[in-house]
Amino acid sequence: MQDGYLIDLHCHVLPKMDDGSDSVEMSLEMLRREAEQGVVTVCATSHYYARQNSIAEFCARRAAAYEKLAAALPEGLPRVLLAAEVAYFPRMEEQDLSPLCIQGTRTLMLEMPFSDWTDLQVEAVETLVLDRRYNVVLVHPERFCFSKSNQQRLVRLAQLPIGLQVNAGSLLRWSTRHLALELLELASYPMLGSDCHNLSSRPPNLKEGRTVVQKKLGERFLRRMDENAEQAAREREWSR
Ligand SMILES: [Fe+2]
Repeated sequence: MQDGYLIDLHCHVLPKMDDGSDSVEMSLEMLRREAEQGVVTVCATSHYYARQNSIAEFCARRAAAYEKLAAALPEGLPRVLLAAEVAYFPRMEEQDLSPLCIQGTRTLMLEMPFSDWTDLQVEAVETLVLDRRYNVVLVHPERFCFSKSNQQRLVRLAQLPIGLQVNAGSLLRWSTRHLALELLELASYPMLGSDCHNLSSRPPNLKEGRTVVQKKLGERFLRRMDENAEQAAREREWSR
């Protein structure tokens, strides 16, 4: 894959779905910025919280938001794949999560709890991967490394055939760059996403993150990440 064929796996680009874009106009400008960076496909990973919506309710809201955006979408902007950033919830491994996966795939973008993870939570992830056969991508793992115990659990989870999707912004800040690079190197499937929410504080910034990866981990590593993104967004079954 070359520049001009990039995928941003993590974007809050659908209007009024969550704390991301608050209007169709903002969504369009976010997509223009993605296109300027060579992105041709974005995964619309609106937050999914089980305590707020059933899966069916979320999908209906998401379809309506997408329709509004699609009606205004001119030629030449990135294609939008429906997806979700699924916050961990108890017994999630017992549910059919396929409507929340990246459209057309078994790729589940999973946000772990912002607390010390329990055995039960880690085992749920293992079940999702090994028994339910989801292609699990842990989003921004760098944001959970605040405790020794989570760091250890993350190392254990990274041994599974799962993706670790680091945020581009974490590579751009000195305070988090080292950790973000370490996690990319730890991952079976290292991935990058912008996790863009708007045009100001959390803008589309995949290109800048890629530049850091290229400088620090090399061109081959960058290509491997691109292939992983391609697999996550396009393929039903990952090669494990
Ligand atoms: Fe996000």
